Amino acid sequence: MHIKSILLFVAALLQVATAKNFTWTGSNEAGAEFGDKKLPGRLGINYIWPKNESIDTLAKTGMNTFRIPFKMERLVPKNLNGPINETYFNGLQKTVTHITDKGLYAVIDPHNYGRYYGKVITNVTGFGAWWTTVATRFKNNRLVIFDTNNEFHGMKNELVRDLNQAAINAIRAAGATTQYIWVEGNAWSGAHSWVSSGNGASLVNLTDPFNRTIYQMHQYLDIDSSGTSSICMSPTVGRDRLKAATQWLRKNGKKGVIGEVAAGNNRICKIAMRSMLQYLKDNSDVWTGWVWWSAGPWWGNYMFSMEPPNGIAYKQLLPEIRPFIGI
Ligand SMILES: *[C@@H]1O[C@H](CO)[C@@H](O)[C@H](O)[C@H]1NC(C)=O
Ligand SMILES: *[C@@H]1O[C@H](CO)[C@@H](O)[C@H](O)[C@H]1NC(C)=O
Ligand SMILES: *[C@@H]1O[C@H](CO)[C@@H](O)[C@H](O)[C@H]1NC(C)=O
Ligand SMILES: *[C@@H]1O[C@H](CO)[C@@H](O)[C@H](O)[C@H]1NC(C)=O
Ligand SMILES: *[C@@H]1O[C@H](CO)[C@@H](O)[C@H](O)[C@H]1NC(C)=O
Ligand SMILES: *[C@@H]1O[C@H](CO)[C@@H](O)[C@H](O)[C@H]1NC(C)=O
Repeated sequence: MHIKSILLFVAALLQVATAKNFTWTGSNEAGAEFGDKKLPGRLGINYIWPKNESIDTLAKTGMNTFRIPFKMERLVPKNLNGPINETYFNGLQKTVTHITDKGLYAVIDPHNYGRYYGKVITNVTGFGAWWTTVATRFKNNRLVIFDTNNEFHGMKNELVRDLNQAAINAIRAAGATTQYIWVEGNAWSGAHSWVSSGNGASLVNLTDPFNRTIYQMHQYLDIDSSGTSSICMSPTVGRDRLKAATQWLRKNGKKGVIGEVAAGNNRICKIAMRSMLQYLKDNSDVWTGWVWWSAGPWWGNYMFSMEPPNGIAYKQLLPEIRPFIGI
């Protein structure tokens, strides 16, 4: 055998040995939720849709999942049960289509923190109505994943539970029965505080007639798990912070996914990130994967940018985490 073929063969073996425990690995694709003080805002000025070429480049690394944050108000501007804004929808649909036509997963992420026009959503029926409208549009696309809402916080756990249940009910009743639903918790859906915040207790009894609901949590490695600093607390901070949630998932027969994770470009963070991803893999009986925060065309020199070709994480962290990409 030619030496190059041998090397390729060994690489393929390593690939098999290193990947395949996850269902989803990928990146967020931010932009359409930007400028959220400007509603509806203007395309190209206040917000932007992800770039097809960037998705293609990341997909070549083995990523199969792209989470697309956008604003609920831009998609459905009038009120929670109002009609869709077709212009904005068109941008979302093109992005989704680009991803799912490649056989990859597109996560529909209303990046609203449980709020609509800045006010906590207390109208559970209205929230369901919003989801009926949106899920109907995607009900025939098996590769769409519905993310109930990004990072509920400062709300009653019971309200977060009721909103999630209303979303599940609405999505299923709309005829979207084959897709996965990723529910999020209160307290920014932190994995580290999943149990201590009471999310576990309040969300354990969510019911899904099609049994395809996954608990989506977020985990950053800085001091308060907020993802606002490039400093990681220790080489094992990620895995340490995931332990309680891992036990909760296993004890309750649930599956989880890390929908946002990132770390800075430095030695400790690189070790901590690999260690955390290894931990997810070692516990892939309950953890279905992870999604980086974040790619997107407008990040510039943002410390976690996964945007090709110059994003800091794309250049510096991607090589570190490559063994954990793939399913
Ligand atoms: C991960 O995949 C490998 C290879 O298929 C398998 O041996 C291992 O048991 C899996 N790990 C878990 C935690 O499922
Ligand atoms: C619909 O969306 C477009 C594009 O964002 C925007 O220009 C327009 O003002 C929106 N219409 C309404 C009624 O919000
Ligand atoms: C991105 O891909 C979608 C789906 O293939 C396509 O409709 C859209 O025009 C593409 N966008 C650009 C800017 O080429
Ligand atoms: C709540 O939402 C429902 C359905 O969209 C709507 O009919 C109702 O008027 C809303 N209630 C309030 C108090 O806004
Ligand atoms: C969840 O269901 C279990 C079993 O029916 C019950 O014991 C528990 O109290 C329920 N928890 C909540 C928060 O409703
Ligand atoms: C639902 O899915 C979970 C894993 O997500 C599995 O453990 C459980 O057995 C399934 N239940 C039914 C009724 O299919």
